[in-house]
This record gives sequence, structure tokens and C-alpha cells, in this order.
Amino acid sequence: MREDRKVIELIEEKLKPIPMTAERSVVLLKPDGLQRGLLGEIITRFERKGLKLVALKMLKLSDETLSSWYEHHKDKPFFGPLKSFMSSMPVVAMLWEGIEAVKTVRKLTGTTHGREAEAGSIRGDFSMSQQLNLIHASDSVETAQKEQGLVFTEEEIFDYEHAAMPWTYSEEERGE
Ligand code: CMP
Repeated sequence: MREDRKVIELIEEKLKPIPMTAERSVVLLKPDGLQRGLLGEIITRFERKGLKLVALKMLKLSDETLSSWYEHHKDKPFFGPLKSFMSSMPVVAMLWEGIEAVKTVRKLTGTTHGREAEAGSIRGDFSMSQQLNLIHASDSVETAQKEQGLVFTEEEIFDYEHAAMPWTYSEEERGE
């Protein structure tokens, strides 16, 4: 009987869900988002979803930073105009944390072209353009790490207890 209990406990241990690790995604409010007064609306959407804000600041991006940021677009005809547009005005940089945050933030953001983006997404609801698509969102965990390093110092990123987390994820998801 005791042995049976041990076997059951062993199986239960093996079947325990693996705790999911939180990711961080960088969001930039682009100059058009700032001019159109959409900062509050955009923050609200990520907050309401259940993501945790761990860094936030307004800054002007240099040509050097933008060249690194958009390195994968360097051969595209819009590379120069995109950098000029992004450096024309301050942007608001945010770092959002959560389980599978990169994928989740991309979904809330919508596809690149505003007129084609899904209704209900930020771009689908507020953008009519391909370039003026309001926000940038990291496309992978690796890209997010690179972008985080380009706009935030370690001191600007905050690790804190968020009261809503027990009501946002299950115990299993939190690994408890
Ligand atoms: P994002 O996907 O955040 O990153 C690359 C940006 O380049 C994109 O948003 C648009 O703002 C811009 N972009 C993409 N395609 C074009 C295009 N064909 N013409 C002008 N800008 C573009």
C-alpha cells in the first residue's frame, strides 16, 4: 500500500506542469501615436490584458540606435525615411512582462499595415497606414533582449510584486 502511494506520488510529480517563464517585450509608441494622443489608450490595452509594466520612459532615438534597431530593414527602400520618421520626435518606450509576452503583445498590436490589421487590435482599430502604424512591438525574445538593451539601463527596469498576478495566471502557470 505504501509502495503504491509512493508510485502515485512519483507519477503526480512527473505530471506537474512545468512552470512557464515570463518574457519581456519592448513596445515603442511611435511619433504618430504620440501626436494622435493615443499613449493612454495603448497603455490601457496592455494593462487590461494582464501584462505587467516593468519600464517606461520618453526618449529621442538617435540615428545610430535606429540603424541597429532596424538593421534587418537596412536594404529596404523605406529604411532612410523610417529612421527620419522615428527620430523626428520623442518616442515612449515600454517594457511589458508576462508569460509568452512577445507573442501576446504582437497579437494585441496587429499586423504591420494599419488598414489590413485585424479589427480589435491596436493597429486595426487606430491606424490607416503602413508606416504610421502607431507602435513597435518586439518580434522575438532575442530581438526583445537586444531592443531592451538599446533603450533601457538595468536601473530603469523594475522587478516588483504585482498584486493582480494571482488573479491573472493559475498556480500551475506561476509554478507554485
Ligand atoms: P514595424 O513593423 O514596427 O517595424 C518596421 C517599420 O517599418 C514598420 O513597423 C513600419 O512603420 C515601417 N514600414 C514597413 N513597411 C513599410 C513600407 N513599405 N513603407 C514605409 N514604411 C514601412
